[in-house]
Amino acid sequence: MKKIIKTIKTNKGSYYIIEDELNNKSFKKQIKNGILNEIEGYNFIKYYYNVPKLLEYNIVDKEITYEFNDDLFYNTMHQGLFGDSPFNQNKIINVLTSNFRNFKFQNENISKNSIFFLRRISNISEYLTQSDKDFEKDIIYNGENLGTFKNCVKTIIYSLTQNNIVPFIISQGDPTDLNISINGTITDFETAGDNSLINEIAIFLGCYLVNCYYYYIKYMNSPHKQYTETLEKYKNLVRCDFIETEKSLEINFSKLLPDKVKNFILAYLKQVKDLEIINSGFKLGPYVAMRMITPVDITNVSDKSDRYLLFALTALFTKKYVTLADIIKFIRGI
Ligand SMILES: Nc1ncnc2c1ncn2[C@@H]1O[C@H](COP(=O)(O)OP(=O)(O)O)[C@@H](O)[C@H]1O
Ligand SMILES: [Mg+2]
Repeated sequence: MKKIIKTIKTNKGSYYIIEDELNNKSFKKQIKNGILNEIEGYNFIKYYYNVPKLLEYNIVDKEITYEFNDDLFYNTMHQGLFGDSPFNQNKIINVLTSNFRNFKFQNENISKNSIFFLRRISNISEYLTQSDKDFEKDIIYNGENLGTFKNCVKTIIYSLTQNNIVPFIISQGDPTDLNISINGTITDFETAGDNSLINEIAIFLGCYLVNCYYYYIKYMNSPHKQYTETLEKYKNLVRCDFIETEKSLEINFSKLLPDKVKNFILAYLKQVKDLEIINSGFKLGPYVAMRMITPVDITNVSDKSDRYLLFALTALFTKKYVTLADIIKFIRGI
């Protein structure tokens, strides 16, 4: 007899830890959309990474079962970076960037991970039609006027719809802290395959810069939701001061990142920079900004300090820290 010993429900679907009479555990993922992508992605990248064994799947019931991997559940990079689980930084970065050397240029609209970018433009276009007064105010960061949030959204849409030819690499495609264990095992294969390196880096940054230990936990119904302890621990770090006027939002923040995370991000970006794949003038910032404001829906970000911090980051990556070198400079400073 198999029994379910834990259930997690998110907006995307349900996840079950199942145990049989011999105490063997398995992990069942049942999702509303994307089961075929998950199976295809798994079969594509299983040769490139350490992955849990796929035990069975059922396309009609939209479910897939893997061998349970303790580290993928209890010792992800979330516990590594925001908790006390020890990990080897070089090893993890090598896993995340292992296939970056073998790149080829292609049109970004055919990448698997464009689902988070081109296919979410309609989400951010919504902001342009909303009559929220905050969206029309000038964002002033450290005395510098970076324009309005609506203007940033326009810049993001413009940058992402240029029919960009970008380097493609083979990757898991969603390199978040919950998709890799401290031992370098990878999970979550919906976007695995041929991916845009630009998107890959933007997903990485959007996640580790602020989303995965703050916004995802506080404002989303995703697997991050269970990490309320992390939110408690870091909530004072992710704060910004602001002064609102009729026409402007003056926003200031100094520190944003725990040192361990900052070092991790900088080491990853150094690796990317050393490979010299991305043209030094390429406007990476708008992609990071895009990933920062989706999938978190700004209209749900109720706390003003949280909302304005997202505005400031969006504006900074759209208008001020745009190239890879700029972004590295920004991260060094926070
Ligand atoms: N084979 C597995 N064994 C143990 N835990 C797993 C396994 N696969 C995934 N998990 C855990 O479940 C979480 C959600 O699974 P994931 O496939 O990443 O779903 P989602 O697409 O919603 O992000 C992961 O972040 C990971 O912690
Ligand atoms: Mg995941």
